[in-house]
Amino acid sequence: MKKKGHAFVIGGTGMLKKVSQFLADSNYNVSVIGRSLKKHQELKKTCKHPENIHAIVLDYHENEKLKMEVENALQTYGCPSIVVSWIHSTASNALPLIIRQISKQYSNFPWRLFHIQGSSSYYFQKENTSVPDNCQYKRVYLGFVLEKEFSRWLTLEEIANGVIHAIKTNNDKTIVGTLEPWDRRP
Ligand SMILES: NC(=O)c1ccc[n+]([C@@H]2O[C@H](COP(=O)([O-])OP(=O)(O)OC[C@H]3O[C@@H](n4cnc5c(N)ncnc54)[C@H](OP(=O)(O)O)[C@@H]3O)[C@@H](O)[C@H]2O)c1
Repeated sequence: MKKKGHAFVIGGTGMLKKVSQFLADSNYNVSVIGRSLKKHQELKKTCKHPENIHAIVLDYHENEKLKMEVENALQTYGCPSIVVSWIHSTASNALPLIIRQISKQYSNFPWRLFHIQGSSSYYFQKENTSVPDNCQYKRVYLGFVLEKEFSRWLTLEEIANGVIHAIKTNNDKTIVGTLEPWDRRP
């Protein structure tokens, strides 16, 4: 089957594991960033096409290593048409560095960035990630679930399905679960 292209999933061995799997099984070459080799191996085991998963085993706080590995992946598999990013706020340089590296190597190719953000970003820490003209920026907020008497955070399944839904629908903003009313969050 013909490859659909290249996708990047940063933090793709944790709660986004099913997203990495979905992209690999849809026949993308998927570059996945995470520190633990064991988690990468476990991810591969869940895929119908494990050969489509390309593990980038590193800590995304290590800027030089991240730059080098992203550059290599872009050279090998081409410009990613999809980038899914779940990066902890301690690594504020990581996403801008990846965006710069893609722009440097592919300034015209259209690509989409799905930026996964926690619920508090929606109200309190608005992201202002800047992207080049050839990138469509999509925000995905992780909310919570209201049950009758109580509320709870999203399950891993709900998070991954919500992100897959965002990729399929291509809306500029997706809220997984709900963010309202804010005072009923868990
Ligand atoms: N609204 C909600 O309901 C909501 C929102 C956010 C989170 N959560 C929950 O909170 C849990 C914990 O969140 P989490 O962030 O730990 O999620 P996670 O997705 O389980 O783990 C983070 C992912 O990023 C990778 N990662 C972490 N630090 C890294 C680093 N320094 N360098 C490279 N890769 C790194 C991890 O792999 P390595 O550890 O191997 O590096 C993993 O792939 C989630 O499982 C989810 O259930 C819920």
